[in-house]
Amino acid sequence: MLVQPIRDSRQPAHVVVVASEKGGSGKSTTGVHIAVALLKAGQRVATVDLDGRQKTLTHYIQNRRAWCERRRIQLELPTHYCIERAQTSSIEANERIEVANLCSAVSMIERTHDFVVVDTPGNDSFLMRLAHSMADTLITPIKDSFVDFDVLGNFDPINLTVTGETHYAKMVREARRERRLLDGRSTDWIVIRNRLSGSRNNRHIADGLTELGKQMAFRWSEGLAERVVYREFFPLGLTALDDPDSALGRRTNKSHLTAREEVINLLTALQLPLSENGKRHVATLAQWNAVKDEPLQVHEMVS
Ligand SMILES: Nc1ncnc2c1ncn2[C@@H]1O[C@H](COP(=O)(O)OP(=O)(O)OP(=O)(O)O)[C@@H](O)[C@H]1O
Ligand SMILES: [Mg+2]
Repeated sequence: MLVQPIRDSRQPAHVVVVASEKGGSGKSTTGVHIAVALLKAGQRVATVDLDGRQKTLTHYIQNRRAWCERRRIQLELPTHYCIERAQTSSIEANERIEVANLCSAVSMIERTHDFVVVDTPGNDSFLMRLAHSMADTLITPIKDSFVDFDVLGNFDPINLTVTGETHYAKMVREARRERRLLDGRSTDWIVIRNRLSGSRNNRHIADGLTELGKQMAFRWSEGLAERVVYREFFPLGLTALDDPDSALGRRTNKSHLTAREEVINLLTALQLPLSENGKRHVATLAQWNAVKDEPLQVHEMVS
């Protein structure tokens, strides 16, 4: 089955938080791809950028909007909020303002959208902790390196076993506990191995994640591989799921199609509660992607 639970439209929006304390692991890139994949699956999607300093997700969406206007094309766009950094001289006041802004954004979208995708900065803050405790699905992208793994767990270099949890893992544990106490709901935590390149499968990382996942109650999945297509489209606000044929007047190449398949696989692995309609859309997208560049068969031309 493509996605397991079915959404009840009376439920509040499902909150997907993309977070990791490691910079550059591909949080914003993953976040925008998930948001666009959900939009293409016919879901009502809002996005929230908590990285008020870099604003990568905000700029991505602004670029997408600008490209639509410039080319007079229609692309799916989420309802977007950026939580600006408060600039008073008091840290406490800043925290209060930012939290109030996040709460107000969420209250505006939670009953009118199916999904809220939240992108976060790569550092710890009060706002980050709050976002973690709001997550129905928490996605933590890590690169396939022990340096990134170290954000989640300590590793024994001799026998390659997990020896302890880290500051970030503890924070997630606390946030999940708070969430359970607050409304009895649990957070599905998925660590994704992102930006995998040539040495595709580092078995030690895979084994370490499986081991750590048992201790910390997360599952892991492969994410997006290292591909030019994930970064070249940023100025146009396009994603691997968009069709450059219509947007750029060029043909989709093999790497683009593989990237698209990867995003669809990721969406499937996340098991988000899409509506029946959304499930059909994703299945159609996957089917279309699989046959798109195959030459037409004779029976298809004559039928
Ligand atoms: N799968 C990928 N393949 C190729 N390049 C990627 C991929 N994912 C991200 N990048 C590139 O890597 C850089 C960092 O990506 P991104 O901004 O998504 O990471 P981040 O985790 O959000 O970073 P930060 O912690 O600074 O917010 C960008 O230049 C982006 O275009
Ligand atoms: Mg980012």
